Amino acid sequence: MRRPPDGANRESRDLRRSVAERKGPGKPGSATSSLDELVEEVNRQILSDMRRFYSPQVVERLHDPRNPGPMREANGHARITGPCGDTMEIWLRIDERRVARATFMTNGCGPTIACGSMATELATGRSTDEAATVEQQDILDALGGLPEASRHCALLAASALKGAVLDYLQRGRATGENEG
Ligand code: FES
Repeated sequence: MRRPPDGANRESRDLRRSVAERKGPGKPGSATSSLDELVEEVNRQILSDMRRFYSPQVVERLHDPRNPGPMREANGHARITGPCGDTMEIWLRIDERRVARATFMTNGCGPTIACGSMATELATGRSTDEAATVEQQDILDALGGLPEASRHCALLAASALKGAVLDYLQRGRATGENEG
């Protein structure tokens, strides 16, 4: 696979902003509609570029990440910053030693979002032991692979997931709740 464009999401945002700035504020009538068409065209182009670099599973999650955002009722949580400087947070709601719900947040690039999304999807419904053994390769496999330069994003997501399970177990050990 060829190297992906850096921060495809950021690029998309920057392109849309620069197009909007070049055109100025929207006006009623044809100027607004031609701006809309231009933005649509830019979006189409970005999407087609993404499809050249990423699997359908990744592209789908770039547009519609599953389980995004913090979770108030979580009883397991981890926040990990990778060597690249990106941070991944995962929240887990575990009932009877099974992951009832998992959510994530990241400030990372597109592939990091796809990996966080997939980590929460793989964790949901699993026992704590199973969730703690979701590895980088499991996330990569479920996403249909990532370009070499983005494979570490899956490691960040897997590490955050393990950290969240560990946090749950440690909280339980402190209160005696998760014994047995
Ligand atoms: S680029 Fe930093 S985790 Fe993906």
